[in-house]
Amino acid sequence: MSLLEDLQWRYATKKMNGTKVSQEKLDYILEAARMAPSSSGLQQYKVIVISDKALLEKIQGIAYNQSQIMDCSHLLVWVAWDGYSDERISKVFNYMMDERGLPRDTMDSYKNVILNLYGTKGADWQAHHAAKQSYISFAMAMAAAAEQRVDATPMEGFTPEKLDELLNLNGSGYKSTVILPLGYRETENDWLVNMKKVRTPREEFITEMTIADAADVETGGGFDLNTTIKK
Ligand SMILES: Cc1cc2nc3c(=O)[nH]c(=O)nc-3n(C[C@H](O)[C@H](O)[C@H](O)COP(=O)(O)O)c2cc1C
Repeated sequence: MSLLEDLQWRYATKKMNGTKVSQEKLDYILEAARMAPSSSGLQQYKVIVISDKALLEKIQGIAYNQSQIMDCSHLLVWVAWDGYSDERISKVFNYMMDERGLPRDTMDSYKNVILNLYGTKGADWQAHHAAKQSYISFAMAMAAAAEQRVDATPMEGFTPEKLDELLNLNGSGYKSTVILPLGYRETENDWLVNMKKVRTPREEFITEMTIADAADVETGGGFDLNTTIKK
């Protein structure tokens, strides 16, 4: 099986059948999430795994009652840093240097660049930047689940503030970003299972640019991405 076949196989499962995902497959998916790259290697996020039905029931109530939350085997919740600080960034860099057997100050100049750059941005920017990194991990988990033939539904359909409260995240320095129920499709009751996978046509999706297309006041270069027709 190739990655492209896995991605064709997967879909945002609307109805799951409650079957358990094995620990081995779950661990594989979580490891893919852990191995994701992140900006400056900070891994400014974590994954919370929930299979407790009583907790899932509460989460379903703040996730538009989506059935997959109760019918899944495990719910993965990505939570990301609510902001950057010297302490947080230094902790990661210290760990990285220790793991690589390097003096802790090896990357101090780079670390200071990040600290100065991020420090000047507001709290919203920082939380947003960290949240974006969590989606890379989330995507890796979705691809790994597909490879393992485990169904998954990417979900933003929940109220993050309520989930943060429910999961006791307030004051933890983390905010929930996105969730992923894992399980198995209930084919006979899932309206999406046999629908064609629809994506933007390749020729619209991919555009090649050259220097002639770059903004240039003298040549009047330019590019209209909405038509993908070169001016
Ligand atoms: C970040 C994100 C959030 C989504 N939120 C939900 C959701 O809350 N509930 C749901 O049923 N589908 C949700 N979807 C599924 C998308 O609608 C679906 O991925 C898209 O239509 C493409 O279809 P496919 O995943 O079946 O290929 C979400 C997808 C992504 C990537």
